[in-house]
Formats: sequence, C-alpha cells, structure tokens
Amino acid sequence: MTAAAEALFDLSGRVFLVSGAASGVARALVATLVARGARLVLTDSDPAKVERIAAIYEDALSFQTDITDADAVECAVQRTRDQYGRIDGGINAAGLLPISPSETMDPATFRRCVDVNLTGAFLFSRALSPVLKEEGGGRLLHISSVSSMVSNPNYAAYAGSKGGLAQIVRVLAREWAPYRITVNAIGPALTRTSLTEDYLSDPEFHARAVNDIPMGRLGEPEDIVGAALLLLGPGGAFITGQTIYVDGGRTLV
Ligand SMILES: NC(=O)c1ccc[n+]([C@@H]2O[C@H](COP(=O)([O-])OP(=O)(O)OC[C@H]3O[C@@H](n4cnc5c(N)ncnc54)[C@H](O)[C@@H]3O)[C@@H](O)[C@H]2O)c1
Repeated sequence: MTAAAEALFDLSGRVFLVSGAASGVARALVATLVARGARLVLTDSDPAKVERIAAIYEDALSFQTDITDADAVECAVQRTRDQYGRIDGGINAAGLLPISPSETMDPATFRRCVDVNLTGAFLFSRALSPVLKEEGGGRLLHISSVSSMVSNPNYAAYAGSKGGLAQIVRVLAREWAPYRITVNAIGPALTRTSLTEDYLSDPEFHARAVNDIPMGRLGEPEDIVGAALLLLGPGGAFITGQTIYVDGGRTLV
C-alpha cells in the first residue's frame, strides 16, 4: 500500500474506549487496533471476561463497566481521559441476543435486551460526546446487526433494539456532525460467539442461518475489521449516520 493509502487507516496513538470489549465479534478488531498502535481502554460487564482480556492486553487499561449504568459509563470516560490525556472515540460491542417466540418472551428479558443494546448504546455515545467535542472531533462506532434491517421470527427484542440503534446512529450523527464527531454502526451477519453458540448447536438453526446468507457461510470476527478501520480512521472522516452491513449479502434476502 502507498503511504497516502496507508494514512487513510492510520490509528497509531489514537485512544478508544471499548465497551463489550470481550466480545467475540470485536475480538479481531481489538487485536488489529492494538497491533496498529491504537491505545485501548477495555471494558465489559463480565468481571471474568475483563480478567481474561486484561491478561491478553497487559498494556491496556481494563476494568468492569456495565453499559446500562450511566454513572459507570461516565466514570469510564473519565478514567480513559485520566490515563491517556485524550480520547479519539468509542467502540461499543456490548450486546445480548434473546431469541424467543414473542408470545412467551419474558417482558424482563425484552427490557434487558433493549436496555443493553439500545439504551446502553445511547448512554455510551452521550458520555463520550462532550469530550469528543472538546477534542475537536472523534469517532463513535457501534456493533449493530443485520437485524436492524431483516426480520427474523422470534427476534422481536433483538431486532427492535438494533432497529432503534440504527435510528439513534442517524440522529446522533446529525446532532454532532457540526463538532466533527462521526457516529456509525457495523451490521455483521450471524457469527459464532458466546452469544450464538448455543443457538448454533441446533443443526436446523445452523443450516437455516447459513442458507440465509448468499455467500454461503457464517460471519467471522475478521470480517468486520476492514469496515471498522475505515470508519475509525482518517479515511472515514466524512462518513456518518451509516449502518454498514458486513454480511455476505444477508440483508439482500
Ligand atoms: N454473534 C453474532 O452473530 C452477531 C451478529 C451480529 C451482531 N452481533 C453483535 O455484536 C456485538 C457483540 O456480540 P458477540 O456476538 O461478540 O457476543 P459476545 O457475547 O461474545 O460479546 C458481547 C459482550 O458484551 C458484554 N456485555 C453484555 N452485557 C453488557 C453490559 N450491560 N455492559 C457491558 N458489556 C456487556 C458481554 O459480557 C460480552 O463480552 C453485539 O452487539 C451483538 O448484537 C453479533
């Protein structure tokens, strides 16, 4: 790659707060960002997972934060700033996926899914925006899903939360465009992670999932890295309000 092309994806020294940092989908992205010299603050609600990523990324600051706790998220932003003296953006990969017929879905399960996937995304963005304004701009990137567009039976909570996320991304993008803050999402197709492995152990579910993806395979964590580097790097400076589907054609079906 020429130096000019490489500069489009240059993230060295950039500081990003990550929520849901132990996410399987975001695994390859976190590894790539670290390898490219970005400085990450890794947070997740699961203390055991935080311990695991802290052991892998010894140079990163890692601590437990629940994205649905507004005060805790603000505290995470402050700790990021205290650690590095600046923040260039946030990456949110926190998520829950309850799949259940709507008639029998426990209302508490529905609410918790919306709380994490939608309200959490809002709280995370909102906590970072004042700092990014002061910095003269920044990047917010959410891991959404093809479910912000497609309608799978039994996905009311998940699809509702991700559909809402697509709209929040558009609204926040407009609100903060004057401050050079971009707000975007990536919508991956079904990927084998701790979120999906139980469902995918059902051969019928697995076969249907693959069959629904025109490119004939599930997503891999590596698939989202290219789009994320674009959205987080200098090359993405004029892209905002978008959900970019990285889905082997799933949203075409
Ligand atoms: N796996 C898929 O098929 C798939 C497809 C499309 C989109 N996604 C999305 O990708 C994102 C990551 O999912 P994944 O598949 O990697 O699952 P995952 O279970 O591996 O990761 C999700 C992470 O979010 C964390 N988390 C859950 N609740 C949280 C909270 N309240 N606060 C902070 N962290 C919290 C979990 O501890 C976990 O580490 C999710 O938003 C998911 O909706 C996943």
